[in-house]
Amino acid sequence: MARPTFQAAPGTRDLFSPTTDRWRAFTEIFAEEATRAGFGQVALPMFEDVGVFTRLGEASDVVSKELYDFRDKGDRHIALRPEFTASVCRAFAENRQLIPWKAWYAGPAFRYDKPQKGRYRQFEQVGAEVIGSHDPDLDTELIALAVRFYERLGLNDVTLLLNTLGDKADRPGYLDALRTHFESNLDALSEQSRVTLETNPLRVLDSKRPPDAELIAAAPLITDHLSDDAAAAFERVTSGLDSLGIAYTLAPRLVRGLDYYTRTTFEFTSGSLDAAQNAVGGGGRYDGLVSDLGGPDEPGVGFALGIDRTLLACDAAGVFAEPDTTVDVWVVATTGGLDGLAIADELRRGGLSVDRSFDHRSMKAQMKAANRSGAPVAVIVGADEADADTVSVRPLLDDRDQVVVPRAEMLATIKELLPS
Ligand code: HAM
Repeated sequence: MARPTFQAAPGTRDLFSPTTDRWRAFTEIFAEEATRAGFGQVALPMFEDVGVFTRLGEASDVVSKELYDFRDKGDRHIALRPEFTASVCRAFAENRQLIPWKAWYAGPAFRYDKPQKGRYRQFEQVGAEVIGSHDPDLDTELIALAVRFYERLGLNDVTLLLNTLGDKADRPGYLDALRTHFESNLDALSEQSRVTLETNPLRVLDSKRPPDAELIAAAPLITDHLSDDAAAAFERVTSGLDSLGIAYTLAPRLVRGLDYYTRTTFEFTSGSLDAAQNAVGGGGRYDGLVSDLGGPDEPGVGFALGIDRTLLACDAAGVFAEPDTTVDVWVVATTGGLDGLAIADELRRGGLSVDRSFDHRSMKAQMKAANRSGAPVAVIVGADEADADTVSVRPLLDDRDQVVVPRAEMLATIKELLPS
């Protein structure tokens, strides 16, 4: 086949039905779970002043390498959102809401990442954030929201990795300890990690490079540098999860790809995805981000789940299949008049899903289309039926007989024939 003139940009994809139906179902289930947990939906712009996102941390790849930024026609420096949390905080700072403010969202995010399976330049997230409460029970509730959502999808191979990064005041002591540890073993550290060490020693823990593994395993733990308050908050989260029967793995060296986290941090990984992109979701507390963005000093906590990756994990696990999009009824009309149009409209208004052929195809061609569609019932109107104001109703998937019924009884007859 000749190469088309244009192709979707690298790292972007076209999705078609029934894949899109599955994506919609995913978001609808998430919306239902979030609504049950008292969250309201927030709809935010897909682009913001670049400054909203540079607050995520200049030392993170998301900001330093992956931002889609440009100057618009008004010479504003704009970036497509790489995630939602910063926009949620900006929106809160700008349009104060009653606290605790609980918001969920869904939509695309953009990162100039190296495209590969499970890693795209435009990808979708669903997520939830709470602004205005320090209560660690909220951390637990948010984790539970994500876990119950995975359960509804039928995705059972997800591991919850749990850590705390302590308070801002705990950080300098821990960073010093990390720096001392890595600097005294500098020769063993990969070159890239030596560079990272200069800007953010915490991020060295995130290195997946084999030479760093041994040093990372021996690195000091944040848990030895926690304030009493941060330690007690973490203890409350773990006991909350225990009380809900939610399993977790303590991951004392888990650092996330964004720099705003304080206290609880977590990641969900799927056993059926390649290690490089096995994170299907993640989140945590970000107690200084709202004030960094010019808002009041309110704490925040939340998570986001990647739809693309979660669905890959569902495929690998054989769960949450694409929904059946077969219509209930196929209308076959050969009168050349407006019968097909009217019948399809009447049946759709009666609550059925209906499709039909166009372009005045022959009876044979229309019946072929009806059979191919997988619809359990065909409604047929030829000249005889039209004259007598009747329709023929034919079951297509079994050997029940075709019946001729008055047009006024069409809907009721079909409903009786359809599997409930
Ligand atoms: P994140 O870990 O950067 O966190 O992204 C969350 C999820 O989005 C990842 O676990 C992954 O499933 C998906 N994801 C990220 N990048 C890509 C990509 N290039 N292609 C496909 N999927 C991707 C955040 O975004 C934070 N805002 C989460 C959060 C909310 N923290 C607090 N509140």
